[in-house]
Amino acid sequence: MLRLPGLIDPHVHLREPGATYKEDWKSGTAAALAGGFTAVLAMPNTAPPICDEETLSLALTLAGQKAHCDYAQFVGAGADNASKLPTLANKAAGMKMYLDQTYGPLRLTDQAAWRKHFERWPVNKPLCVHAEGETLAAALKLAVEMKRPVHFCHVSRKDEILLIRAAKERGAPVTCEVAPHHLFLTEADIPTIGSGRSEVRPRLASLADQKALWDNLDAVDCFASDHAPHTLAEKDGATPPPGFPGLETALPLYLTAVNQDLLCLEELIDLCYTNPRRIFGLPEQPETWVEVDENAVWPIYGEDLHSRAGWTPFEGRLVQGRVTRVVLRGEEVFKDGQVLSQPGFGCDLRAIIQ
Ligand code: DOR
Ligand code: ZN
Ligand code: ZN
Repeated sequence: MLRLPGLIDPHVHLREPGATYKEDWKSGTAAALAGGFTAVLAMPNTAPPICDEETLSLALTLAGQKAHCDYAQFVGAGADNASKLPTLANKAAGMKMYLDQTYGPLRLTDQAAWRKHFERWPVNKPLCVHAEGETLAAALKLAVEMKRPVHFCHVSRKDEILLIRAAKERGAPVTCEVAPHHLFLTEADIPTIGSGRSEVRPRLASLADQKALWDNLDAVDCFASDHAPHTLAEKDGATPPPGFPGLETALPLYLTAVNQDLLCLEELIDLCYTNPRRIFGLPEQPETWVEVDENAVWPIYGEDLHSRAGWTPFEGRLVQGRVTRVVLRGEEVFKDGQVLSQPGFGCDLRAIIQ
């Protein structure tokens, strides 16, 4: 048996308020525990998006009633909320800016708006961006110019990770994460997964991009699932929304990579615990750990997952390493496939006085 700290997933979409048929705070945080994550940071592209005090309170109330694990909630940058958002900084996981088209209406195209948010959001509070390619280069430039710490979500391409690496070497105040689907899938997998189901932003990339992520892992700060559940009916429909469920498959994939010597256990703990805790300023979860059977070899099946998505792009993949038990703040919250904590057991990590 291997014992890990309670892992932190700094990037999940839990769909509540607004799309609980895809996921809600109960099913999403049950998936987190089953995947070995005792804390999740939830993205703001819900319906309505979390861009003001009222929707933040609504999301936190729902989370408080329903979450099985600990959490914090991001707020979203909009075209006209740059001056009001900072008043929410203490209650939020951080601020999220969508600089490219993804899922939902939150997108900032105008660089003047980026600048305003970079300026106003407190410099010591997490600021995350979804930015790809040239957009990422532009946001990175602005972060350097404004000496503004910025965290880059789900870096997926060789040009992007090399740019971030070079900026870090020059002392730029930036951090980044990569997602398991960009580490373990490429565009070559699209025919097997199916074209609608393969839709994700950033898109699945080339083998060379995937290799660059592995080769530059020392420039990567965090792993983040970017758990983005949509139903199979939607993914197989006429306008498939982008996104993969990922909370329950991430750790088994990482552990399989450890087993294949692509990664060592210390790096895994840095990427899934130490670094996200530092970057997002999260309190310690006392008496919290994850037990893993590191020898269990098992096939991933979508129908076995706790996520309401009920499918996975990793269908049928054999992995080595299985979460057998999770203890959160002294309580046994997951054992042998069953989530044992009650809805509402989870704490808002931003409400804990450190
Ligand atoms: O594929 C994605 N899905 N990328 C995003 O940035 C958003 C996410 C979602 O919310 O479904
Ligand atoms: Zn994104
Ligand atoms: Zn996302």
